[in-house]
Amino acid sequence: MTTLDEFTIQQLRLYPQATGELSGLLRGIGLAAKMVSNLVNKAAIADILGAEGSVNIQGENVQKLDVLANNTFIHVLRNSIYCAGMVSEENEDIIVFDDAKNNQSKYVVLMDPLDGSANIDVNMPIGTIFSIYRRVSELGKPCTKEDFLQKGDNQFAAGYVLYGSSTIFVYGTKRHSVNGFTLDNSVGEFYLSHPQMKIPAEGKSYAFDYRYYHSVDKPVRDFLDECNASENGSDGRYANKNAGCMVADMHRILLSGGIFLYPARKEKPKGKLRLMYECNPFAFLTELCGGGATDGRQRIMEIVPQYVHERSPVFIGSSDMVDKLFQYINTSETVIKNVY
Ligand code: AHG
Ligand code: MN
Ligand code: MN
Repeated sequence: MTTLDEFTIQQLRLYPQATGELSGLLRGIGLAAKMVSNLVNKAAIADILGAEGSVNIQGENVQKLDVLANNTFIHVLRNSIYCAGMVSEENEDIIVFDDAKNNQSKYVVLMDPLDGSANIDVNMPIGTIFSIYRRVSELGKPCTKEDFLQKGDNQFAAGYVLYGSSTIFVYGTKRHSVNGFTLDNSVGEFYLSHPQMKIPAEGKSYAFDYRYYHSVDKPVRDFLDECNASENGSDGRYANKNAGCMVADMHRILLSGGIFLYPARKEKPKGKLRLMYECNPFAFLTELCGGGATDGRQRIMEIVPQYVHERSPVFIGSSDMVDKLFQYINTSETVIKNVY
């Protein structure tokens, strides 16, 4: 049984020049995740369900747990010495941890502290998503916006935490691929449970909210129709599964294959999901696992970001399904009205 800490330290041993900073940063994220998991588990009896009362920079109603999770991650990362600053879905501006130690850190973090907020009150899965970059500004000085505005291909590590029927912490780096750790609540440690995750090349399911069927572009509808097709009244080939939480849907897809779709549509011409802390981290993990991620025109991780909270359409998962959808979009004779 290998704990998350032991695992990251073993990786350190393989690279004598490594400083241990990434291990320290992941330990901090893991600690905050345990605190959030604890809050999630007792939310209904600790009076922390429901709306907080404010509207965030995304124009969405903030839930009490959104605030608690956000404060927990900011607090833990600020008090560690392994992070120069962070971007959170809940904060308009970058958060600079401007002190002598944190200014020496080479990493910055972008984060969705609580993904799937609409699931909180009904005890459905929720998650946390994070993306780690090496900063481009000078060490020893406060981090800057340029450190965050890097394309996804520059990610150094990325991961997520799923607060589901158990709490699972998954992270990946280019060197060590993607590994998942399950929280043992009685010990308070994450243990390696999903080593070297690989996504099946052939998907079995697709995650899409059919409410949007009518307002997405025709090639996307054609692809969905194919997923939904049946021969002579028999069962279709693909299951339609949608947890309403990208983390839960992507965890299922990484383990059993499939595709997650959040396209552009009439009312949201750039889709809903945020490039820097939803699309990019999952694109990074999915590619490391052998799958793909596109906005319909290009790889998600090639997009050069203009704004830390920008949105992007996203199609992500098993390569057979992502490639097929890409072809539908790029060979379509119908004029694509939405933005890809
Ligand atoms: P968040 O709670 O961080 O705002 O993100 C939720 C995301 C994603 O997890 C989910 O797949 C999607 O929003 C659902 O969106 P809508 O039902 O609002 O379209
Ligand atoms: Mn989210
Ligand atoms: Mn969120």
